[in-house]
Amino acid sequence: MKAWAAACEVHPKRGNMNRQLIAQRWYFRQKPAEKVDGHTFEWREDPVPDLAEGEFLLKTLYLSLDATNRVWISNWDIYMEPVHIGDPMRGFVFGEVIASRHPDYPVGCHASGLHSWSSLIVSDGTGFSPFPALGGIDLAEAFAAMSVAGPTAHVGLHHIGALKSGDTVVVSGAAGAVGMMVGQIARIAGARVIGIAGSAAKCALLRDELGFDETIDYRTENVSERLGQLCPDGIDLCFENVGGDILDASLTHMKDFGRVVICGLISTYNSHEPVPGPYMFRNVIMRRLTMQGFVILDHVDLIPAAMRDLADWLREGRIKMPVHMIEGLENAPDALNLLYTGGNTGKLLVRVA
Ligand SMILES: NC(=O)c1ccc[n+]([C@@H]2O[C@H](COP(=O)([O-])OP(=O)(O)OC[C@H]3O[C@@H](n4cnc5c(N)ncnc54)[C@H](OP(=O)(O)O)[C@@H]3O)[C@@H](O)[C@H]2O)c1
Repeated sequence: MKAWAAACEVHPKRGNMNRQLIAQRWYFRQKPAEKVDGHTFEWREDPVPDLAEGEFLLKTLYLSLDATNRVWISNWDIYMEPVHIGDPMRGFVFGEVIASRHPDYPVGCHASGLHSWSSLIVSDGTGFSPFPALGGIDLAEAFAAMSVAGPTAHVGLHHIGALKSGDTVVVSGAAGAVGMMVGQIARIAGARVIGIAGSAAKCALLRDELGFDETIDYRTENVSERLGQLCPDGIDLCFENVGGDILDASLTHMKDFGRVVICGLISTYNSHEPVPGPYMFRNVIMRRLTMQGFVILDHVDLIPAAMRDLADWLREGRIKMPVHMIEGLENAPDALNLLYTGGNTGKLLVRVA
């Protein structure tokens, strides 16, 4: 228990004599009208219970902020149980086991999973997996690539989108976590990749550092016009992360029998009004398209193989996962809004410990 005592925080009011462990945690307090604001979450410090047989204590190192966090606290009818008011806010976490009564999670091992925005977590393993040791790869980058974004891109491209060598792939939200992975994985499979992102600097990063063939800055360029120029024979595979006008532009330029993978519609997540469009939906029939939405949590059987590929590619330097790091769990609510303003480049993580 020495490592546990050393690594954990001690409640300031109790002093060092009493080793009561305290978890800092965000709770969901009030549904936001649009953006998350100062009323949405509440910060609390909770005593950590003693471990029962079969439990372990995780010190959270990184919290992943994901666009879907906003969906979990919306009024929408969604793909999984929402976060209820009064519950700890849910999120994907990565941490180190610092005390254990669980045979599969020994002290010192790393684990990742779906749990809560919390500095210390007691778990029986539900929703967690041990995180493989990836010698030589930065832990934050490995978590960023392999927890949600990488598997989502891999499964979305190969399993849902039936990616083929020689395809012309268009990905929106290209300078975000999923988008960056989509572009790099599609290139590895021999596709030509066009990324749509929200600044010249993001577009330059995609082309110069991550190997995208072409980019479109949707804030300064006419996306539909540019897609017409860049894809004179049409788009084989549209990997959609954004929705709205950007999805319409891609639908306009799809090839006959093209595939449209609906991974996310981030432009709509803060909306409290009915969302219009897509106006070019008619091309689903005019171009005989296959359009399929998917959620990575339905494909857990495919995740281990995706993670093996991602680990190999990271080790070989064939993919990179730029990390946008925010310091401190206390800053998580404000940081979440970066996803909806384009304030992040790459995977948005919070360094918790
Ligand atoms: N289906 C699944 O299982 C699954 C799993 C994970 C993620 N997703 C989806 O994948 C997408 C990306 O999620 P992420 O968590 O990786 O976030 P992210 O891509 O790292 O960040 C979101 C990016 O989206 C862009 N964006 C935000 N609002 C926009 C708007 N109105 N118009 C155009 N671009 C906008 C911003 O970049 P710009 O500067 O380029 O605007 C922002 O940086 C989301 O739609 C998410 O729901 C789906």
